[in-house]
Amino acid sequence: MAFKSDKPIALGADHGGYELKEAIKQHLTERGIAFTDYGTDSTASCDYPDYAAAACGAVREGRSDLAILCCGTGVGMSMCANKIRGIRACCCSDTFSAEFTRRHNDANALCMGGRVVGPGLGCAIVDAFLDAEFEGGRHQKRIDKMMALENL
Ligand code: RB5
Repeated sequence: MAFKSDKPIALGADHGGYELKEAIKQHLTERGIAFTDYGTDSTASCDYPDYAAAACGAVREGRSDLAILCCGTGVGMSMCANKIRGIRACCCSDTFSAEFTRRHNDANALCMGGRVVGPGLGCAIVDAFLDAEFEGGRHQKRIDKMMALENL
């Protein structure tokens, strides 16, 4: 199913993910998908938690439905994103995981490593993530249990 939303995708990256974020911006533009870029805006060294907070804040506050976060490995971004209430982030370097983390985990943040995947694979992962839909059903009660873990 081709992605459709009336809200922009929230994008964030540190210096390690900057170039991948720029490739994703070009790809989203070619697909006609709106986005908001929360930085960073260069390859100058910066701290990935700041950009995870900005982009995931947009999801938490309802300004975006989904975030895409890039750092060197994707791991730091995913750790930060998953500390933010309401965020279900998955670090992906393959399209299968990206598709199924939407279908089964209702992930609302995709994290990737600019030093792990190139722009071609990165954009294919974005497509797999965006074009999949949460299946609900038996998965919903697992999401409910997952979100209850925020209260531990
Ligand atoms: C920055 O050098 C690097 O540590 C960061 O981009 C990321 O990979 C952290 O998880």
